[in-house]
Amino acid sequence: MKKLTYISRVIAATALSAMPVLAAMAGDGVEISHLGVNNTLVRVTGDADYLIFPVEEAREDARINVLVDGKVAETIYVRLAGSKTDFTVPFDLTPYKGKNVVLDIVTPQGRESVREASADVCWNGITLSDSIDTSDRETKYRPLFHHSPLNGWMNDPNGMFYKDGKWHLYYQRNPYGSKWQNMTWGHSVSSDLINWEHLPDAIRPDGLGSIFSGSCVIDHNNTAGYGNDAVIALYTSAGTSQMQSMAASNDGGSTFEVFGGNPVLTLESEARDPNMFWNDETGEWNLTLAHALDHEMLFFTSPDLKSWTLQSAFGKGIGAQGGVWECPDLFELPVDGSDEKKWVLLCNLNPGGPFGGSATQYFIGDWDGKTFTADTDADGAIPTKWLDYGKDHYATVSWSNAPQGRRTVIGWMSNWQYAADVPTVQFRSANTLPREIGLFSGSDGQIYASSVPSPELEAIRGRLAVNRRNASVGAKPSHFALPSENSGVCEILLNINAQKADKVDITLSNKAGDKVTMIYDTAAHTLSFDRTKSGVVDFSDSFPAVTVAPTFETDGSIKLRLYIDRSSIELFGNDGRFAMTNLVFPNMPYDSMSVSATGGKVKITDLKIYSLK
Ligand code: FRU
Repeated sequence: MKKLTYISRVIAATALSAMPVLAAMAGDGVEISHLGVNNTLVRVTGDADYLIFPVEEAREDARINVLVDGKVAETIYVRLAGSKTDFTVPFDLTPYKGKNVVLDIVTPQGRESVREASADVCWNGITLSDSIDTSDRETKYRPLFHHSPLNGWMNDPNGMFYKDGKWHLYYQRNPYGSKWQNMTWGHSVSSDLINWEHLPDAIRPDGLGSIFSGSCVIDHNNTAGYGNDAVIALYTSAGTSQMQSMAASNDGGSTFEVFGGNPVLTLESEARDPNMFWNDETGEWNLTLAHALDHEMLFFTSPDLKSWTLQSAFGKGIGAQGGVWECPDLFELPVDGSDEKKWVLLCNLNPGGPFGGSATQYFIGDWDGKTFTADTDADGAIPTKWLDYGKDHYATVSWSNAPQGRRTVIGWMSNWQYAADVPTVQFRSANTLPREIGLFSGSDGQIYASSVPSPELEAIRGRLAVNRRNASVGAKPSHFALPSENSGVCEILLNINAQKADKVDITLSNKAGDKVTMIYDTAAHTLSFDRTKSGVVDFSDSFPAVTVAPTFETDGSIKLRLYIDRSSIELFGNDGRFAMTNLVFPNMPYDSMSVSATGGKVKITDLKIYSLK
């Protein structure tokens, strides 16, 4: 299979100067016939690897049936350009070499006449090409050390597994635009969780629908019949309804054979994002499925990954119920400093997060292979817990088969409230840093999940730009310069002993007047993050926000670790006892950090600022 690394070509807006014609030749090798106000046929007469579509984001999707030798091979949706071209996207013709390819295109826009419809700039811009320009045009906000797609829209990371030294990451992708559509499993792979190689799409929409989120397992014992160690994926086929389908890979996750007997699991109501694992104790597969609109998770078991038996449900009336329940994960971990082990049930929720929109809630409890029983608090209630207290941490799930008992997770670093409006075009959305989940006992006797950056992240530390063992700070701010290399991306570590101070203010700023203000409130035991003046914030009313995390300490000292990339800040406190992930779009990189305190002096120890490679 051909390896594609494509990025859309951003071309200047083109206006039609000539009078529109009803039947026009677009680029060489492409023949266009307008059939009516909303219907156009595009015949590919030339030989090339790609057909290039001009896209205008503000338009509605056109439905394109790709006819190969007269049969519908696939249906895709593209916002074909009307009055201007924002960027172009490539459609891969290589699977159809030597065959007749005709596109039957239905455009949604109401038109007075065919003459008017034929004036859309897309018709002249549909061209053939053998190459794709893969250069990055988003140098301002494209993350430097986070995973992001080469081009197009991305949401949930899913289907992740580790095998033979490689971390496989699949993700919800639109290959034909920077808004949600055409859900496909994009695929990237890494040997260090930092440098990602982009591979061809792994699973593409088929007759049952587009390919929503799911999970992968290594079938060590060939229970599904695809051979020992085959990679088996379960995902949601989203057509008219949602159902669960299976696919198998015998080349380590690069290509998948979709199971002919799909779907393998259907229900009478909306359910999605199957997440499965092998249960050694019971000797069968366990599956958690989000019963989205019912705000609960369903649990199934199977001997062979194909026939699934419903065992129980968890969630009705429990925890945050403000939105649909999606993207579950269920795993066991030891509790720090004890012999106890507990199960963690991740329930991503949208909307209904603590600061609006999407967020990851979780429950701690026990799992017997069939039923999840959640721990209760002192009042006998099941508490809602959050894995991250920022606005941009969603759809978090873990890698299956990770080495050394690691529970490594990654989340989508955006929020459904504004993900399609953020000020990037060539790509939309990045993933969070990979994180290691652990469990700890809080002072209230409850068990909580912690998350720390995966240890691989230490390898990207560059210059130690600031190294202060001790500083005493009062009302007058102390300033520390942030590194300027690599667009100012950096890691900041510091310990704060608040002593008698009641508030500690940590502000990141730049010469454009953008700032992010974090306030540690020692009485409330909280840390807040204010991004209302962080830079470009006006693309959505939901973006300017203040998020607040409990600090899980009782003695006025906190330990902070911050990762600053070009358009994100991730904060980990007290060894991951709280985490906060927020996007920011500064007009220029933040170049200064100031620390001040009210109500008394604070002691800062071991302040270290590293540039990142
Ligand atoms: C979560 C989600 C999933 C679904 C996917 C579709 O963000 O809504 O429930 O599988 O996105 O792209």
